[in-house]
Amino acid sequence: MDTLTYNQCEIRFGNLKDSGFNDLLASPRYAQSKKIIITDSNVFDLWMEDFITSFPAVSEAEIIQLPPGEENKVLDICQHVWEALSEYEIGRGDLIINFGGGVITDMGGFIAATFKRGLSFINIPTTLLSQVDASVGGKTGIDLGPFKNQIGVFADPDFVFIDSRYLTTLPDVELDSGFAEMLKHGLIADAEYWNDLQAINPKLIPAGLIKTIYRSVEIKRQIVTEDHLEKGLRKNLNFGHTIGHAIEGFCLSKDAAIPHGFAVAWGMLAESFISLQKGLIIQTMFDEINKTIRKRYTKLNLTENDLEEIKPLLLNDKKNVGGVISFTLLTEIGKAVHNQEVTAEQIDAGLCFILS
Ligand SMILES: NC(=O)c1ccc[n+]([C@@H]2O[C@H](COP(=O)([O-])OP(=O)(O)OC[C@H]3O[C@@H](n4cnc5c(N)ncnc54)[C@H](O)[C@@H]3O)[C@@H](O)[C@H]2O)c1
Repeated sequence: MDTLTYNQCEIRFGNLKDSGFNDLLASPRYAQSKKIIITDSNVFDLWMEDFITSFPAVSEAEIIQLPPGEENKVLDICQHVWEALSEYEIGRGDLIINFGGGVITDMGGFIAATFKRGLSFINIPTTLLSQVDASVGGKTGIDLGPFKNQIGVFADPDFVFIDSRYLTTLPDVELDSGFAEMLKHGLIADAEYWNDLQAINPKLIPAGLIKTIYRSVEIKRQIVTEDHLEKGLRKNLNFGHTIGHAIEGFCLSKDAAIPHGFAVAWGMLAESFISLQKGLIIQTMFDEINKTIRKRYTKLNLTENDLEEIKPLLLNDKKNVGGVISFTLLTEIGKAVHNQEVTAEQIDAGLCFILS
């Protein structure tokens, strides 16, 4: 079984049934803890029976089942869960298990980190996106209206268990969504990985992706180990997200949510175009990124009028300082640079480019 660690968190890769999960929960560290599983209704229907029958240590766990989707990554839902935790008389020594996609690991981590000033939690990510990115690194949080992840805290899970078996039930569109974050890891940190990804179709054998998932997590782990609280280097992981989050938040506010990875994919293309305009990246590299994104991701259903509503959302990006929008851009495939000031005209051009 492959493992990686950062801070106090251990990430184990491979079949959960061979991962020591049950022994861990039965060990003195957690044996006396009440266990609460937070999941969404899709994962509950598909995997909960398998989960609780496979691991005696969770057979008595309380299960909190939430409605699925980004529109439910909100304070109201947290409040219901905190109330349920109070009803179950959950205390500091108890354990939350987040079993689901990025919405569940983000929100479940936030719920755990804030209830009674912090409970331990374990992530078992079940989407490609949460396996390669969301479940690792300690960013937890929820959305505030159209503003993504505006409320949150840094809090690491004790363990993350990554089992690609869960991907066998994931819809194709969600596999493509997760793949966007893998492309991002290649673009910001590893040109060879980016090249390898060109030959991969995540929809063909999702359970066979475990080695590629490992490489993505390795890249993310290296960055968050060096800069856990995003003072510098970690901002590179936000490549594609300044524009991507604004697009995602806009669609969410129109009751037309799109998968996170699709927003990030087009955000990466817009931000690559800005990198080109600023003379940071050469044309041939830009052309390669352009071809890859357009081949893999259906065009966003946005109009020029929509862009006028998307632009103000950029002003609330978490990386901004003193009202200046700060971007992470590319200097080549495999290398990123953060804290880049960009003009309103360059943003306009980047957004118009992805509509063309
Ligand atoms: N914390 C971080 O560092 C970080 C990084 C990247 C993204 N994120 C966040 O992650 C979220 C997106 O994550 P996501 O794409 O996993 O979304 P998600 O959790 O909404 O999952 C996508 C869909 O897949 C379903 N699903 C989950 N597992 C399944 C399975 N095994 N089989 C079938 N269906 C399954 C879910 O019910 C949902 O409908 C966003 O909120 C984003 O902001 C966080």
